[in-house]
Amino acid sequence: SDNYLTLADGNKMPQQGFGVYKITDQSEFDQAIESAWNHGYRLFDTAQMYKNEQNLGDSLQKLSAPRDQMFITTKISEANQGYDKSISSLKESLTKLQMDYVDLLLIHWPINTEFFETWRAFEDIKKEGLAKSIGVSNYDMVHIQYLATQAHEMPVLNQIEVSPLMSQKPMLKFNTENNITTQAWSPLGRGKVLNNPTIQKVAEDTGKSAAQVILRWHLQNGIAIIPKSVHDARIAQNADIYDFELTSAQMAQMDSVNTNHRVSKEPELVYEFGEQYPY
Ligand code: A2P
Repeated sequence: SDNYLTLADGNKMPQQGFGVYKITDQSEFDQAIESAWNHGYRLFDTAQMYKNEQNLGDSLQKLSAPRDQMFITTKISEANQGYDKSISSLKESLTKLQMDYVDLLLIHWPINTEFFETWRAFEDIKKEGLAKSIGVSNYDMVHIQYLATQAHEMPVLNQIEVSPLMSQKPMLKFNTENNITTQAWSPLGRGKVLNNPTIQKVAEDTGKSAAQVILRWHLQNGIAIIPKSVHDARIAQNADIYDFELTSAQMAQMDSVNTNHRVSKEPELVYEFGEQYPY
């Protein structure tokens, strides 16, 4: 889509991107990336942990598209945290992606105190131009507050699990108040929320699919999204969400689906910082 958000560092990022978690077969990859590109996706989101940076790099090469039209995100895995390993593993990621820089580099998960050294590396990586923007993923409020005690610059983005089953309203508010863009991973709850009767009803009332009303709900909440699909028709459908609007009543109906249910693990608590922990 043509819709971009401006991050706190001034860089622009497509509000909607394409997640490649769990796509590993190269021909499936090629088809999905070509399909996504043709339907207007410009942001592609991978991670060291997905073990598919090379696949993504190979698929993007086949598009023969200019690098500056793409927005590429990767994430430093838990195993590669720390100052030296962050930098050396990013260089390996760039080799696999066949790129000189990523647009956005994230710390994949908060791990106790290791994220301070990782973040110091990120600040240097940004200075060197190996990442245009730096942020975090799966950070809770306490992690961000704690990072802020030593960071020279703050993360511009926090990529977290958000779906109608896990709406994360307090976290979204916290991110906004701290000039941090929220980006939702698994915005469709890994597909598990599509059959929810409330969502089905909103879909019926708007004449759109369940996936489309969910993605539209995210956009109207002001956050960025990276839905994943390997099917052309669904990739197209997920991008086709800019010609309708949910009413505030429909937004409220969608909000009522929340059960604080994660498809993932809980972000690790930082017990050492106990008294700062807000809950
Ligand atoms: P598939 O890749 O087979 O199309 P999330 O982005 O929340 O992780 O959700 C991804 C899951 O939702 C995948 O299983 C994907 O399946 C499915 N999915 C993505 N888009 C749609 C859609 N428009 N309709 C139905 N299922 C979808």
